[in-house]
Amino acid sequence: MSDDSLIAAARTAREHAHAPYSNFRVGAAVRAKSGRVFSGCNVENSTYGLTLCAERVAIFKAISEGERGFDAVAVVTDSDTLTPPCGACRQIIWEFCGDAEVILANLKGKTERHRMAALFPKPFDHSYF
Ligand code: THU
Repeated sequence: MSDDSLIAAARTAREHAHAPYSNFRVGAAVRAKSGRVFSGCNVENSTYGLTLCAERVAIFKAISEGERGFDAVAVVTDSDTLTPPCGACRQIIWEFCGDAEVILANLKGKTERHRMAALFPKPFDHSYF
């Protein structure tokens, strides 16, 4: 799947966001090396702390379907300043996607590309134990 299609999948997932508390709707999509794509949206909760980000929903869907090995993650929001993954999501993306490409996009078609190694330098991972 092309980068544009991955962004489109994230954009569609964003429409399902459950974000009544922040009103900040996020969509994400992760592309497996097999070619399959999994998408997710942020799912908020009235306790706030149980909220899950769109990136983690997409990745956990993929993992729970038996998928392993990913090369790109797209994140779509409606902000002029594009939205990079939060710290918790960076840890999870690193664990499952390694030095993948992170594609940020908004609804106006603005995009940016970053490598995980740049977004998440000196990570903690299994190599320490
Ligand atoms: N959010 C994401 O879904 N992904 C991120 O990387 C940043 C934050 C969500 C969580 C919450 O529902 C809302 O955005 C505001 O923080």
